[in-house]
Amino acid sequence: MQEHDRLFMQRALELARLGLGYVSPNPMVGCVVVHQGCIIGEGWHRQYGGAHAEVNAIESVADKSLLSQSTVYVSLEPCNHWGKTPPCTDLLLQHKPKRVVICNADTNPKAAGGLQRLAAAGIKVEAGLLEKEGRWLNRRFFAVVEQNRPYIIFKWAQTADGYMARSDYSSKWISNAYARQLVHKWRGEEDAIMVGRNTARYDNPQLTNRDWPGYPRQPLRVVIDRQLLLPQSLHLFDGSHPSICYNLKEDREAHNLIFKKIPSVDFWQHLLQDLKGRGVQSVLIEGGPQLFAQLSELGLWDEIRVFIAPHSFGSGLAAPRLQGHLLKTESIHDNQLQWWVQKPF
Ligand SMILES: NC(=O)c1ccc[n+]([C@@H]2O[C@H](COP(=O)([O-])OP(=O)(O)OC[C@H]3O[C@@H](n4cnc5c(N)ncnc54)[C@H](OP(=O)(O)O)[C@@H]3O)[C@@H](O)[C@H]2O)c1
Repeated sequence: MQEHDRLFMQRALELARLGLGYVSPNPMVGCVVVHQGCIIGEGWHRQYGGAHAEVNAIESVADKSLLSQSTVYVSLEPCNHWGKTPPCTDLLLQHKPKRVVICNADTNPKAAGGLQRLAAAGIKVEAGLLEKEGRWLNRRFFAVVEQNRPYIIFKWAQTADGYMARSDYSSKWISNAYARQLVHKWRGEEDAIMVGRNTARYDNPQLTNRDWPGYPRQPLRVVIDRQLLLPQSLHLFDGSHPSICYNLKEDREAHNLIFKKIPSVDFWQHLLQDLKGRGVQSVLIEGGPQLFAQLSELGLWDEIRVFIAPHSFGSGLAAPRLQGHLLKTESIHDNQLQWWVQKPF
């Protein structure tokens, strides 16, 4: 592969990313059609249930007769099955481009097999270009397909001396206003947002993405309250957005509100399976420390995003120990944002 192949695949990944917050539980996919070094068509999967990237890219090509002499760059192996739309492999076979380059193989057994069919039809097929970047982009999708559970992101704010809250639960804001707005953006990018009972009780969060308008939907709000002790007056139970309360006691439904009973044995495995069954591909967990401790002990996490503020508390509820691999560090005004991952990509 050559440098220009990388550039065109980078463009396909850039297009794919536009689907973040719109296409789950489908993967994000971008596609670029190139003829004699010029992009003659491009597209991405814009909406869950909508046309796939390859369809949009091919549709955007004005002179379809050029397709048979073109290279098609797709960020994920073209699908080979009937889902909500026809298989993209059939569409490519119909136009028969000279060459198809993909970034990631589709590890979902239902959708895979596209590349072999294209190769069998005489199309030059190449795979694995910018594979790492593509795996990172679609890490939520690959978690569900390969680990059979939603992708789990922990997010918290801690003081410079490592506390997440004061001992009497009184402190609310540790991170700055820019960091908090960024969290609203993140909420729009994930399917569900989860908190523990104490966080729900003492902070009474709304868990909506109201400070970052534009995303098509609100995430599913999730709270753990095993003995159903939380007051129904909390924002999470106001019925304004879909919410679910996992507990050990009862199944009940009201408008936008589900109380779901799950067994105490293998509690977290049952909970994650239930979320997956509801089409949840990713969960942003916003605390508190006890909840993180539960999940970390079971290795049930993929990513940590932590804001470190410049001030100190001296004492309080300690933040979890940072673990895994530090991916990057950013400055959000006077807060430091660290991204950690359990396994390096
Ligand atoms: N700085 C930050 O970023 C940040 C973020 C969030 C929260 N906070 C602060 O953190 C404090 C609350 O944190 P916290 O650690 O006390 O509570 P928490 O994590 O909010 O709640 C503890 C949760 O763990 C669950 N749990 C405990 N043992 C379990 C088990 N064996 N199996 C399943 N679930 C289990 C509890 O369920 P049950 O209650 O049903 O037993 C509860 O839902 C608040 O002051 C809040 O302001 C800070």
